[in-house]
Amino acid sequence: MHKVIYDTDPGVDDAMALLFLHRHPEIDLLGITTVFGNASVETTTRNALFLKREWNIPAPVSKGASVTIDSSRAERPWPAMVHGENGLGDIDVPETIDLPLDPRPAHRFIIDTVRAHPGEVRLVAVGRMTNLALALKEDPEIATLAKDVVIMGGNFYVPGNVSPVAEANIHGDPEAADIVMTAPWKVAVIGLDVTAITTMSRSYLGEMAARGDKAVKQLDALSQSYIDFYKHAVEDGMMVHDSCACVYVVVPELFSSISGAVRVVCGGIADGQTIVRPDARRFPPDGAWDGLPSQVVCTGIESEKVLDLIRNTLLAA
Ligand code: BDR
Ligand code: CA
Repeated sequence: MHKVIYDTDPGVDDAMALLFLHRHPEIDLLGITTVFGNASVETTTRNALFLKREWNIPAPVSKGASVTIDSSRAERPWPAMVHGENGLGDIDVPETIDLPLDPRPAHRFIIDTVRAHPGEVRLVAVGRMTNLALALKEDPEIATLAKDVVIMGGNFYVPGNVSPVAEANIHGDPEAADIVMTAPWKVAVIGLDVTAITTMSRSYLGEMAARGDKAVKQLDALSQSYIDFYKHAVEDGMMVHDSCACVYVVVPELFSSISGAVRVVCGGIADGQTIVRPDARRFPPDGAWDGLPSQVVCTGIESEKVLDLIRNTLLAA
């Protein structure tokens, strides 16, 4: 079993990935930690509680960061045009959900849970990396105690989605992402290079909903405006970003990758750009890179197989 903490900002594609984690038989979901991003952290936390209640997910929800790790950064507006005003495609979601939160802030929940299961916990982070960076700052030893980190974020050999060079999860907190990428733990980066070419059409989703239970029908409903948003890039469909990272947890063989140190540009016109220094290339000594851990950067994906696995898992209720 893969023991997973899901760090998320639900979020339409976050919701699909959550149902995947909940339903996959080899995943033991230990906790859901929330972060600002697709909406405010109040909204993403309310959404996590809503999905937990609707889908009977036993894992606790712990509320995380509301702002970037460098609090002097200017706040960026929530992407309501992507995920809706309420972060879940503007389907009906009550203002408040009468379920308790874990009393700890998300970064403390991460530290305690990693320490409770040394060498076992897989951190799956599909929003801003702020909670992970805060956890590392408070307890750097977790880098050697977590099994690994799998993130949805970044772009290496393709353009960004919020600037010509940056992807939303990294651009939303570049300093936090640089801390996470350069810490001495294993990170697998599932970025736009693979997620932007893994798309689900409206009809694929609709057929799945017709065969699925209430949860799958809800996914179909909350994804409709997200699909509308993606019309500039996908023909009547959507990118399934966050679910790709969750698939990587169970079947990494569906991805091809390179290894190398990863850094994030913090500031200037390339703010939030992710850069890999491939191990396969020789570069002169450089203090910005030497001695950093080598991470896994995914550059290829078997999209059809990934989509099949998502569908089969979501339908296996
Ligand atoms: C990422 O940004 C968010 O909009 C999605 O949930 C995903 O995690 C894609 O760039
Ligand atoms: Ca997300």
